[in-house]
Amino acid sequence: MSHTQVRPTDMRVSAPKVTARTLLEKKRRNEPITALTAYDYPTARIVDEAGIDLILVGDSLAMTVLGHESTLSLTVDEMLHHARAVRRAVSRAFLVVDMPYGSYHLSTEDALRNALSFVKQGGAEAVKIEGGHRRASLVEELTAAEIPVVGHIGLTPQSVLRMGGYRVQGRSIPEMEELLGDAAALEGAGAVALVLEGIPRELAEQITAAARIPTIGIGAGPGCDGQILVFHDAFGLTFEPLAKFARCFSDGSALLREGVERYSEEVMARRFPLDAESYHLPREIASSAVMPTTPVSRAS
Ligand code: KIV
Repeated sequence: MSHTQVRPTDMRVSAPKVTARTLLEKKRRNEPITALTAYDYPTARIVDEAGIDLILVGDSLAMTVLGHESTLSLTVDEMLHHARAVRRAVSRAFLVVDMPYGSYHLSTEDALRNALSFVKQGGAEAVKIEGGHRRASLVEELTAAEIPVVGHIGLTPQSVLRMGGYRVQGRSIPEMEELLGDAAALEGAGAVALVLEGIPRELAEQITAAARIPTIGIGAGPGCDGQILVFHDAFGLTFEPLAKFARCFSDGSALLREGVERYSEEVMARRFPLDAESYHLPREIASSAVMPTTPVSRAS
């Protein structure tokens, strides 16, 4: 926004606030839950105004916005900075903030402190943590501290080093059993929803049927209670080839590139700015003889 532009009035209609309970009711009514990531004020505002149910300030921020190779290096302070911007934009969606790698791995006390900062300073309505049954006691502790938790199982990007790459999970009977157990353990510990990432659709359907809490899939097929995509993948702002599960719904890069090129052409041809886009002196000064004279440069 330019400094002189008047801030437009808030165009958002007063739609009911989405909470964890709304998501649960949607699952009960078999109504799809919509979710997207967002990392800054303008994109979060677009997503919220479009009526998306859940906005995740995902740690994919490290890759999509900050240009890192994985999510591992993201810090709590970086996440807080983006969460605050998103918070200022969101009025309807359920706002979930991802806990970065290392922010919940040292001790329960450290995890609680970091999660509380996401709620108190970042305005999170829930935090998301990656991992299965081993995270159940942490989910219980966070829930006991009144912090709703979204679990995340399957292909968990923070496990990239242990997994040796981003690999689809749950393709064997023991892995399927483990993931079914993970989902049950997280639900039992009080998780309000589960992200299922990078698992066979048949397994996601089985987890979804067994779970009383909503499942939100990414690369987990159509049988989940909801779907989430990374904003930059969905709107053409990712520079690498997309994963099989991602779909580009509009080509944001092409649109922006075309706009930038048009701007450059107009400036080069001196067609921007026009007179109508310029400020003017008051007529009495512009037409008067008292216009200040330009000082002559004394530089030799
Ligand atoms: O960080 C992220 O964007 C995520 C989604 C892939 C669910 O965790």
